[in-house]
Amino acid sequence: MGRVQDKVVFITGAARGQGRAHAVRLASEGADIIAVDLCADIPTNGYPLATEEDLDETVREVEKLGRRIVARTADVRDSAALKAAVAEGVAELGRLDAVVAQAGIAPLGPQQTAQAFIDAITVDFNGVVHAVEAALPHLPDGASIVATGSIAALIPASVDNPANGPGGLGYSFAKRQVASFVHDLATVLLPRRIRVNAVHPTNVNTGMLNCDLMYRSFRPDLENPTREDALTSFPATTGFGIPYVEPENIADMVLFLVSDESKYVSGMQMRVDAGGYVKKRPQLPTF
Ligand SMILES: NC(=O)c1ccc[n+]([C@@H]2O[C@H](COP(=O)([O-])OP(=O)(O)OC[C@H]3O[C@@H](n4cnc5c(N)ncnc54)[C@H](O)[C@@H]3O)[C@@H](O)[C@H]2O)c1
Repeated sequence: MGRVQDKVVFITGAARGQGRAHAVRLASEGADIIAVDLCADIPTNGYPLATEEDLDETVREVEKLGRRIVARTADVRDSAALKAAVAEGVAELGRLDAVVAQAGIAPLGPQQTAQAFIDAITVDFNGVVHAVEAALPHLPDGASIVATGSIAALIPASVDNPANGPGGLGYSFAKRQVASFVHDLATVLLPRRIRVNAVHPTNVNTGMLNCDLMYRSFRPDLENPTREDALTSFPATTGFGIPYVEPENIADMVLFLVSDESKYVSGMQMRVDAGGYVKKRPQLPTF
């Protein structure tokens, strides 16, 4: 028996990065997956997002583990599209036990306009609400809802600083709202014992971190910084002095939160940050 044997989990942003890692880790522990991803770029977001081929690869990796997956191209900003994807997934897989709302963008850069601010919020916050909205009618009592925030939600000025422009402010705003939303949604769902938790990663070794935009964010002193240049600054985010964690390290936390091992864990802000928060904010947390 796997740790999430025969559970069905709905994951947004599942084509690559952390979303794919969650799909594969959960499948390796017995889950079936409903996967959605935009599989297209967003104009204000200055690095490429996932492709149809990436989503196909997630499908292949889950099926290789002997589990089922229903994959759809959908934008988390489109509530109707998410509802349709979840309904189709539930019709095929028979149930829904958990949601991992984690699709995201980071449209950073000082040259950006207010549109980047809005896009960060509509994807990174509204997208989480839409995923929950789509899933809720299908979730039984005792289900699990997981939303991905960021250490940006908890450490002021880590992303919302002038070097990152309006998109950085939007990203941090959205992630703070995710933290608040999880707290209050957990309260609302107490009578049904549906637990709701946020995962707040530090730097993660994915496409979001490995792009010119992010290298510039970490090395604003250089005009065209490379990954090698950024690698000297990445470790400042963590407490352990490592540059980043791997998507699989975040998947370990998601697996715990989806599994029954966390059946009495709700309303938590779970940092997977190699000690970055306690290094930067040595006082007691607000949440
Ligand atoms: N990588 C990091 O350093 C880091 C740090 C903290 C938090 N996070 C958060 O982790 C989550 C996952 O990001 P990642 O690191 O895997 O990056 P990623 O860019 O590799 O993956 C994000 C995925 O979301 C998808 N996506 C983007 N906009 C979408 C939309 N509108 N509708 C549907 N899908 C959409 C992308 O196509 C992509 O597959 C995000 O919420 C991100 O903010 C990442």
